[in-house]
Amino acid sequence: MSTLTSRRMLLGRIAAAAVLATALAACGSAPTPAAPGGAAGGDGKLVMGFSQVGAESGWRTANTKSVQESAAAAGVELKFSDAQQKQENQIKAIRSYIQQKVDIIAFSPVVETGWDAVLQEAKRANIPVILTDRAVDSPDTSLYKTFLGSDFVVEGTKAGEWLVAQYQGAAAAPVAVVELQGTTGAAPAIDRKEGFAKAIAANPSISVVASQTGDFTRSGGKQVMEAFLKSQPKIDVVYAHNDDMALGAIEAIEAAGKVPGKDIKIISVDAVKDGMTALSQGKINFIVECNPLLGPQLMDLAKKVHAGEQVPARVLTEETTFDQSQATAALPERKY
Ligand code: AHR
Repeated sequence: MSTLTSRRMLLGRIAAAAVLATALAACGSAPTPAAPGGAAGGDGKLVMGFSQVGAESGWRTANTKSVQESAAAAGVELKFSDAQQKQENQIKAIRSYIQQKVDIIAFSPVVETGWDAVLQEAKRANIPVILTDRAVDSPDTSLYKTFLGSDFVVEGTKAGEWLVAQYQGAAAAPVAVVELQGTTGAAPAIDRKEGFAKAIAANPSISVVASQTGDFTRSGGKQVMEAFLKSQPKIDVVYAHNDDMALGAIEAIEAAGKVPGKDIKIISVDAVKDGMTALSQGKINFIVECNPLLGPQLMDLAKKVHAGEQVPARVLTEETTFDQSQATAALPERKY
């Protein structure tokens, strides 16, 4: 079975489970009794073990702050670990949370695959798991209670649709796009690529001429863009899977004596303060928002799951898009 087919089946199962959860809730069915891991905080607080991807981007920093502040505000005892973008560190952290018998485990999986064994261990220990921000590509949706985060395919689609609209009615000259991908194997890298590719297919003059990972970091974006500028005879557009890589690309473009936003258009995802500032200065042309402030919803879901209440299988975050004037207007109130 192809990866794409298995992802599609997974999404289908998640949707079906979401419908079932809603239907059960509507019927007022009795909630499943809580099955906590057994070690509430000494003071009776709910104990959450949270494994974060790392600190690779402005988005991630804002996400970590949101989770930590929301835990404190909700009276949740948070055990936090930073995996430095390595799956083996996340697996170790989850195993340690299982050993510590936390009440609930939440994590943002660095990549989509390879989680079944450790999630089975959590299930056997009766410790519920919540996925936040990124999904896992497992056909067994009983391994986690819910998945809270963005629809990354939709984000990629919005980026592609904006680009198609820019060239609507223009002469059919080829438009060369270079793509700075997120971490290889990560859900946002896979999905943002897929959504963008589908959207730009509406205009055959637009094509991705080079695509490489910059690992969601500023230095990665800069390095890959430097290589693209050397290897590609013509670059019209950069599509960066996050703001940090777009900011790195801006540095590379300026160092090559070109004007970002004019000589080369830039589209990115996230809408963190630094990205929005570059957009309001005209160095980035369009940003698709990805909301990192997941903490309050995560704590709410954790309490419900711990209490044995039904929660939807999928909780989507609400997001928008920004052009230059919208970024300028939004910047003074931007929290991250
Ligand atoms: O999973 C969300 C993505 O991860 C954000 O877009 C990116 O900035 C982060 O590193």
